[in-house]
Amino acid sequence: MDFKIQWFPGHMTKAKRMMEQQLKLVDVVVEMLDARIPRSSSNPMLIQMLGDKPKVVALNKIDMADPEKTEKWLQTFKNSGLPVCKVDCSTGKGVKQMVAAIQQVARPVTDKWLRKGVRNRSIRVMIVGVPNVGKSTLINRLVGKNKVVAADRPGVTRGQQWVTIAKGLELLDTPGVLWPKFEDQTVGLRLAFIGSIKDEILNTEELAAELIQFMKKHYAGVLAEKYAITEVEDPYACLTDIAKNRHCLLRGSELDTNKAAMLLIDDFRNGRLGKITLEFPEDYE
Ligand code: G4P
Repeated sequence: MDFKIQWFPGHMTKAKRMMEQQLKLVDVVVEMLDARIPRSSSNPMLIQMLGDKPKVVALNKIDMADPEKTEKWLQTFKNSGLPVCKVDCSTGKGVKQMVAAIQQVARPVTDKWLRKGVRNRSIRVMIVGVPNVGKSTLINRLVGKNKVVAADRPGVTRGQQWVTIAKGLELLDTPGVLWPKFEDQTVGLRLAFIGSIKDEILNTEELAAELIQFMKKHYAGVLAEKYAITEVEDPYACLTDIAKNRHCLLRGSELDTNKAAMLLIDDFRNGRLGKITLEFPEDYE
């Protein structure tokens, strides 16, 4: 499958420069990942940019991910020494614990300040991540009715503000946008499944066929039950059966497999196929 890339080198250079500027302003970073694709929604460049700045990983959209796989991912991150938490920003579940995790990783920074006699200084935090992982949703949730602090610090662009989200904790109300990594075709495919890549640049039926292959292998029986089909070897045959059972028809009585493909992808993206994780930690061991 051939993916066209929306992020041109110029965009990436600009995003990287912006991120580097923003990073200078903060003490702690929250890297937000999509719990359904924790690897594919990360950007490995962040590690280099962060240096020794403390980081908390937030696995978001856990309401859509396979709970068993989410627990495995959490364990994997913990094993590699990374503070990690799970959140559902659509309801706010886990957000409190995430704030506590930020305070905890910030402790060495505040301890250093105390040793130097610096008091009354707030820890500054920024949320970063690739598009569509839920950064703005989290920020809106955290900002809520909290107090806005004047953005009088150098480097804060007009329109950006600091918001006190807990005692001694200020959040930059603009997220840091990372670019997705496209070098790996599987990554592109997974980003497309969850809707992070615009649909018009992809062949919908090919995408649906890939999703069918994945579902048959890892969540056998789900499609059979949902669409009353037999999960046969050929994914295109499955798609034809979905079109048949869901009455996806072109003018006349010809089956509209493109419509069936859209229906399937839409069902997946809206969680109607259940809680599904697209990549597993054991595949990266
Ligand atoms: P971004 O800033 O990282 O680009 O992401 P943003 O917050 O815009 O969120 C992208 C989409 O993900 C939004 O849906 C948002 O509602 C949804 N979202 C964020 N967090 C969660 C979560 O924990 N669970 C679920 N199920 N969805 C989440 P959208 O369809 O683009 O917009 P809308 O339907 O909210 O209008």
